[in-house]
Amino acid sequence: MRRLDQLLANLGYCSRSEARDWVKSGAVTVRGEEADDFGARVNAADVCVDGAPLDHPDGLLLLLNKPLGLVCSHEAREGPNVYSLLPERWRRRNPQITSVGRLDKDTSGLILLTDLSPLVHRLTSPKHKVAKVYRATVDRDLSDDLIPRFAAGTLMLEGETEPCAPADLRIISSREAELTLTEGRYHQVRRMFAACGATVLTLHRARFGELDLGDLAPGAWRELPLDQFGSVAR
Ligand code: URA
Repeated sequence: MRRLDQLLANLGYCSRSEARDWVKSGAVTVRGEEADDFGARVNAADVCVDGAPLDHPDGLLLLLNKPLGLVCSHEAREGPNVYSLLPERWRRRNPQITSVGRLDKDTSGLILLTDLSPLVHRLTSPKHKVAKVYRATVDRDLSDDLIPRFAAGTLMLEGETEPCAPADLRIISSREAELTLTEGRYHQVRRMFAACGATVLTLHRARFGELDLGDLAPGAWRELPLDQFGSVAR
């Protein structure tokens, strides 16, 4: 049960004081009855605004095909972000919608967005070893020697003290490869290739666990069921 004015504000409908005015104006019903107490504790599923049920009251889980040029951070000084692709009301939600891990500004592809923070923690925890598949093009011809180097679990990244976990490299053509990681360190793909003398020119994430992009265009997203990864409590 949640307080009515707080519920509407947290779902991005309006400010808390506007919510109070909405209730007073008769725009909000609870179980079909006009609400008259903005402080009442209600079940989100019982509430309608202007006759429509509430917008995703239990949370949101989205799969986005991130385009190049957008960041996953909410910090305005880091530039335009992926949240600008979402409807306004979702951008005003509290807890806010955030990405599950991050893709760099210059990386495209599959990223999950959610306002369910336990899910973010679960899916980004190294313990869970979610496989992420990246497709990279590089500035020089790839040698087969890289396959055992990435698979060994001994590759050190500059400035780090722990080697990377074993990673699976599949060479697709002379300068293109698919790399499967179970970790998510900062700029990991670019730094792994850099540790072997190659510069990544383009990077795209094609898969996250069992999920792929299907036919989603860059900048488009689709909703996933909230129990996609098992039950999640807020
Ligand atoms: N590795 C990178 O270097 N960049 C990303 O965006 C993701 C993984």
